[in-house]
Amino acid sequence: MRSHSGRRGGLSLAIAPFALLAVLALALGLACAREPERSDRAKGKLVEVGKLLDASLGQIALPAPSREGKLSVETAIAGRRSVRRFSDDPVTLGQLSQLLWAAQGITGESGFKRAAPSAGAKYPMEIFVVAGRVRGLAPGIYWYVPSSHSINLLTAGDHRGVLCDQALSQECVRDAPLSLVIAGVYERTMEKYGERGIKYVHIEVGAVAENVYLQTESLGLGTTLVGAFSDDGVRDLLRAEVSPLGIMPVGVPLR
Ligand SMILES: Cc1cc2nc3c(=O)[nH]c(=O)nc-3n(C[C@H](O)[C@H](O)[C@H](O)COP(=O)(O)O)c2cc1C
Repeated sequence: MRSHSGRRGGLSLAIAPFALLAVLALALGLACAREPERSDRAKGKLVEVGKLLDASLGQIALPAPSREGKLSVETAIAGRRSVRRFSDDPVTLGQLSQLLWAAQGITGESGFKRAAPSAGAKYPMEIFVVAGRVRGLAPGIYWYVPSSHSINLLTAGDHRGVLCDQALSQECVRDAPLSLVIAGVYERTMEKYGERGIKYVHIEVGAVAENVYLQTESLGLGTTLVGAFSDDGVRDLLRAEVSPLGIMPVGVPLR
């Protein structure tokens, strides 16, 4: 009996490590079972534009934009060039405010019409800011809301490197203090114009981009309209159900 119970004792001693391993494996299994959920969240599923406000991590009211600049429109048109090399100087929050206003700010008395023309006043454009070196603003990805002239933080941190990777590694996107991403929601315009709406949205990017070009010129800043990028890659970075149509890195031109 003693030897039998001794064997049992020996057996249970031998089983103990396996039991411990089983418990550990179970715990690990449970942790792994939860992992896809966590990584889904970390990766972020695409969010409809209508739900971006709910997904926002905080709203920042922008300084009121100015309606008077130092340059005439003619001088700004004559001086405009695509700028791809930037100094280390940051862009200020006031300058960012002015750029967003030029891109999609509300300008009409009705509180509806915007700085850039839009077919049928459908306003399919959404502007995102990938900010890295903006004085008075934490690095992050922000979404512009014209009606309140505010930006909403969607993702914290400096994501200029990722944006650059998605833009065929064009260095101006990594080096600029910030990039505006102009994105479209085709359905808004196609609802009224059908297939032709696609053309209208593409025409509208040009109008928005030119406003930004001229506003940067007037502010002593520089930009380039970058069209070479991975649509899916940029959309995934924004985590929004939009079609990215242009990237505009903005900064102080390197003289
Ligand atoms: C639709 C479009 C896409 C463009 N894509 C890029 C781009 O990916 N990278 C870049 O450095 N410049 C890009 N540009 C800027 C042009 O290279 C630039 O406008 C052209 O060389 C004329 O120079 P300027 O803008 O200084 O007058 C693009 C311009 C347009 C209109």
